[in-house]
Amino acid sequence: MMNDTALFDAAIQAAEHSYSPYSHFRVGAALLCKDGTVITGANIENRSFGLTICAERNAVGTALASGRKDFVALAVAAPDSGYPVSPCGACRQVLSEFLSPDCPIQFGSAPDNRVFTTMGELFPHDALHDLSRKEH
Ligand code: THU
Repeated sequence: MMNDTALFDAAIQAAEHSYSPYSHFRVGAALLCKDGTVITGANIENRSFGLTICAERNAVGTALASGRKDFVALAVAAPDSGYPVSPCGACRQVLSEFLSPDCPIQFGSAPDNRVFTTMGELFPHDALHDLSRKEH
């Protein structure tokens, strides 16, 4: 059974695959699917800097490309940080496409330094909710 701590551990493991030679700041993300599958992602930087893709969006892309979009929880780990690092604005927008407002999200730098929140708390007042096509 995948509990909060195990999902966070999967995010820490995913950070090992970070490609971050510019920031030296590894991030890992772990999405828990309804069927218990865990799909992970890591941040992938680029020498043009602006093309960097965060761990969260890589996890979403990997999951969708493998036929999964029924997410029930997300963990984000930034093991090089001294404080919990929350998903950036761009990632909040992308995550909100697939995570319901009550979906639990945890982010942290270590197992004993985590913040527990929800999609709705991270992305309130979703201006585009009327355009959502989550059910299709
Ligand atoms: N980063 C993520 O992957 N996710 C976050 O939530 C915050 C930032 C990455 C982007 C970049 O590779 C590095 O962390 C420093 O910003």
